[in-house]
Amino acid sequence: MSTMHPILRPSVTRWGICFNAYALRSSRTSGNYFNFKGEPMEKHFKAPDQSDKQFFNNLLGEAFVADQAEVRQAYGHDETENLVFLPDLVIKPGDVHEISKVLNYCSHQGICVTVRGGGTGLSGAALPVAGGIILSMERFNRILEIDEQNLQARVQTGVVTQVFQEAVQAKGLYYPPDPSSRGSCFIGGNLAHNSGGPRAVKYGVTKDYVLELEVVLSSGDIIRTGARVLKNSTGYNLTQLLIGSEGTLGIITEVVFRLVPYPAIQKVILVPFSSARDACSAVSAIFKAGICPSALEFMERDAIDFTLKFKPEIKIKPAEGDQAHLLIELDGSDDAAMMNDLERIMPVLEAHQCGEILFAETESQKADLWKLRRSVAEAVKANSIYKEEDTVVPRAALPELLEGVKLIGKEYGFRSVCYGHAGDGNLHVNILKGDMDEAHWQQELPKGIRAIFELVKSLGGTLSGEHGIGLVQRPYLDIVFDERQLSLMRGLKQVFDPTGILNPGKTVSV
Ligand code: LAC
Ligand code: ZN
Repeated sequence: MSTMHPILRPSVTRWGICFNAYALRSSRTSGNYFNFKGEPMEKHFKAPDQSDKQFFNNLLGEAFVADQAEVRQAYGHDETENLVFLPDLVIKPGDVHEISKVLNYCSHQGICVTVRGGGTGLSGAALPVAGGIILSMERFNRILEIDEQNLQARVQTGVVTQVFQEAVQAKGLYYPPDPSSRGSCFIGGNLAHNSGGPRAVKYGVTKDYVLELEVVLSSGDIIRTGARVLKNSTGYNLTQLLIGSEGTLGIITEVVFRLVPYPAIQKVILVPFSSARDACSAVSAIFKAGICPSALEFMERDAIDFTLKFKPEIKIKPAEGDQAHLLIELDGSDDAAMMNDLERIMPVLEAHQCGEILFAETESQKADLWKLRRSVAEAVKANSIYKEEDTVVPRAALPELLEGVKLIGKEYGFRSVCYGHAGDGNLHVNILKGDMDEAHWQQELPKGIRAIFELVKSLGGTLSGEHGIGLVQRPYLDIVFDERQLSLMRGLKQVFDPTGILNPGKTVSV
């Protein structure tokens, strides 16, 4: 442990439950409803009229139906770029039977419905691109049951992820999926995107914790999928089909999660490298050495600099030549064994020419390192409008991906800030608009993004690791799916949602 150096002495910081991870916004513009090829399409859904509004008022109560301009504006964007699509009406049902009646009515009327969670999405899945109704899940905010005998929990899907995590942690249990927006995103949004986060590297993503779902279909039928068992090979797996379907197949109202025991101890280090390639190469070497960290995060220099400027209370000073950092966390319940694992990581890091390692000794130092990492997206957004590419490749291909992204940036004239879940091979590429002119942003940049995804595909990866396809990645679907695959998926959409009212124009659906 001789190279470790406890120089980190951060100030006390605050981490509020209601912290909005992406609170800062830039100016926004409206857009269109796009087909698969990214071409604008005609809206063909009925805009709700006065009699439809009356129906919703009677069903839900006037307090839960809104069409005022400021409400439509507030629900017309998520955290994707600067995009805004105004819904005609925002409704807030209070139980599953109300949702059932809403969907049955909208199917008959041809009114489209976009379900919305915390509004923290980065691929535009919650944007009502064809107008119609935003169905907000914010009243579905109850944790219904924590079963300490079976390590399971039954939860409504409007619960904030961090609220749920803290409720189970109070009982010594752990729900690991932890997107950076966990202080404000909803469990339902996590299900809709199959969200991941830093702990996925050891614990898996949202789908790995789901045993059972309650879902309302567009017909208004209420179904349950799965069972409260840890093993299940009974029929087609509708549960897993619905996870990641971005509100296009049904509206998930309730979930039963499996939980694991809470790992009592976390060790956190921040490791600088003078070359981003060395940092990326160290990642697979750590696993090869037989160690599975509970988080293995990569941040290039710009990501750190933007964040330290944005959160000056974080007192970390990277050295002049540091080009990239790895944030590594080990967790467990046996302190000595974990220190031993940490010792075993040291020679691997040294072999990749790491600099002086910061070891977080106290809980507040750990919190500060995590605050640094979790604030990157927000910090980049405060700096510039940006396009977020959620690339994912086999872990060992990370160095090649990073270098390829930078070369493509030179060729197509863009600057990118890269960071993400290196242990998963999941690199977030944030392409800054800065002072790029609008024509270049709209017309040339998509060619560069296509080149990035072509590279990703050639390395064995795919379009999104955890943010979903939503609206903004649709133009690139042809890189990873052929017509046969797409037609199978569209067939599923037709079976689940024959009137096509559920979140049109998103992910693979037409
Ligand atoms: C993160 C979000 C952007 O990793 O996925 O911070
Ligand atoms: Zn992420």
